[in-house]
Amino acid sequence: MMNSQIIAIWGSPSSGKTTTSVKLAKALSEKKKNVIVVFADIIVPTLLTILPTVDSEGKSLGRLLAEPELTQETILKNLITMRKNDYISFLGYGKAENKFTYAKYSKDKIIDFMVLLRHLSDYVIIDCSSIITDDLFTAMTLEIADKVLRLSSCDIKGLSYMSSYLPLLSERRFGIEKHIKILSNTNDSMLKSEMTESLSGIDLYIPYVKELSDQYLYGELFQTLTTKGSKAYSNAIDKLMKGVFNE
Ligand SMILES: Nc1ncnc2c1ncn2[C@@H]1O[C@H](COP(=O)(O)OP(=O)(O)O)[C@@H](O)[C@H]1O
Ligand SMILES: [Mg+2]
Repeated sequence: MMNSQIIAIWGSPSSGKTTTSVKLAKALSEKKKNVIVVFADIIVPTLLTILPTVDSEGKSLGRLLAEPELTQETILKNLITMRKNDYISFLGYGKAENKFTYAKYSKDKIIDFMVLLRHLSDYVIIDCSSIITDDLFTAMTLEIADKVLRLSSCDIKGLSYMSSYLPLLSERRFGIEKHIKILSNTNDSMLKSEMTESLSGIDLYIPYVKELSDQYLYGELFQTLTTKGSKAYSNAIDKLMKGVFNE
């Protein structure tokens, strides 16, 4: 069994959790690895924002977790696939859904879900929400995942978020000392060094690149970055591929 199979991507709001999830999934698919991306965010159902034309009709993470019994079949029924890439599939909330759309689920349901996911794919990337106090799914994911990438945006907002929420994960079961600490959208070298110090060290820097924010805006995140300015970003993704997935 691979030891870093379920990867949680968690961090401050707008720190690039979703972007990183998608770019890592794309990189894994290029290595011919199957990957399921779970978009846990219910505040803004994510899938339709990054793949506006995908067909997700009748499929939902909320519906899946509300099933009386979870099986591989019920998961497969709710998996959303891409037309152009057979290696990547998604689970997430659908159009116009919110927290009240489906019945509540238990902790045990999430544990069962993770066990089943391990059998369905080479890798599972969970794009967490920033809300850990009111989102059981994200809180449990942070406990169960084999590895957690902890992103902070390179600004005072990122710092403020971490000082409020990191203490909530201080229990040993969360293993925060093993988190991979990432500072994202670094484009100011002074802030970068101040943030590094305030966050007691950073394992990886993800630079701000214009082409990426354009890709996001136009629903083109699955396309390859081509401009020279994006090279530093691609290098950071390569480092994660090697360091986290051994790929
Ligand atoms: N490295 C980056 N360079 C440029 N823009 C970025 C980068 N990472 C994220 N963004 C932009 O920041 C915004 C938030 O990114 P997103 O991935 O949705 O964050 P989160 O999921 O953490 O809320 C998006 O508009 C995205 O295009
Ligand atoms: Mg997001």
